Amino acid sequence: MKIGSVELPSPFVVSPMAGMTDTAFRRLVKRKGGCGLVVSEMVSSEGLVRGIDRTLDYAEYTEEERPVSIQIFGGDPERMAEAARVVEGMGADIVDVNMGCPVPKIARHHAGCSLMREPGHAAAIIGAMVKAVRIPVTVKMRKGWDDTDLNAPDVARRVEEAGASAIAIHGRTAKQSYSGHADWEFVAGVAGAVRIPVFGSGDCIEPEEVVARLRSGVSGVFVGRGVLRNPWILAQARDVMEGRPPVPVSLAERGRFLLDYIELLLDDPDLEADGFRHVAPGQAASEAAPARSRDRWVINKVRALCSWYTKGLDGGSQLRTRVNAALSLSQLRETIEVFFLADVPPIETALAGRP
Ligand SMILES: Cc1cc2nc3c(=O)[nH]c(=O)nc-3n(C[C@H](O)[C@H](O)[C@H](O)COP(=O)(O)O)c2cc1C
Repeated sequence: MKIGSVELPSPFVVSPMAGMTDTAFRRLVKRKGGCGLVVSEMVSSEGLVRGIDRTLDYAEYTEEERPVSIQIFGGDPERMAEAARVVEGMGADIVDVNMGCPVPKIARHHAGCSLMREPGHAAAIIGAMVKAVRIPVTVKMRKGWDDTDLNAPDVARRVEEAGASAIAIHGRTAKQSYSGHADWEFVAGVAGAVRIPVFGSGDCIEPEEVVARLRSGVSGVFVGRGVLRNPWILAQARDVMEGRPPVPVSLAERGRFLLDYIELLLDDPDLEADGFRHVAPGQAASEAAPARSRDRWVINKVRALCSWYTKGLDGGSQLRTRVNAALSLSQLRETIEVFFLADVPPIETALAGRP
């Protein structure tokens, strides 16, 4: 399976999720296996072009995540082309364009899903980006804006003609946001209407669903919320695809994932006080980082993940309450250890979180 010249080792992809699919999370999912591609959180094209530190942080990735796609949003063809050059300059394998975000703050600026209402303009953006860079340019879109305008097939053909190398489609309209169900039949129909690979997205919670969707006529499957609930889902989907029962995941392993996540978030050499990196030249990051607000940033990241990660877990809502009440990293670690690792022999507990 290839996107342009980029080889994907598996058809299963970590879907972009703002605030969630940071480099630490993506690395941990990648280490579990079965992952063919990771996509960054959406990043502002304006922020990239202006070199705003916070934006550059969102686009940060590590070598072990490859192949890696950076998703950008924006509505101006020239600025998007310039942003694509920045992404290429950062060494990413693929640059993806967000045409699916329904949030008014984004849609207002002719970006996100509102681009689907202006297919000619959407194609002009892709054309400008394709001219500007050598890496593949891809698009993530929805079924359409609303039920009266299900134009993903038209937008898909236009961006293909403009040079896009692949498309991912979340099988809902912008109006639906996350209500109802993703329409995989519709997505398969779009896949049949273009020559480039089409990935489907939406509602895969179990590994068996990921494989069933793959067999519905798409080239690959983007998994979003399912990965937040179960970071092993792509590895388990690979098991199912290869005819093995999905590898079971123990409670202790789930606990270690969270502890590892904390360590990776903390293990950022440039991490500054507010959790972003804007260290003055010549200044050591540690000098610039009062621990308390850095810890707060990590705690907030873990809380956000836990709101998904604890879904469907026995005692999950009590755990969420305790995680949300933790005021320090040590309280947070202890809460995780008590919930997930209480039955694990002490030596194992002592090693938890260390690779
Ligand atoms: C918290 C959250 C943040 C998201 N952020 C993005 C984003 O930045 N870019 C994007 O293209 N899609 C974004 N999405 C949409 C997902 O990538 C995915 O298409 C959608 O959630 C449907 O797939 P799922 O049911 O597997 O989650 C986001 C979804 C969630 C739940």
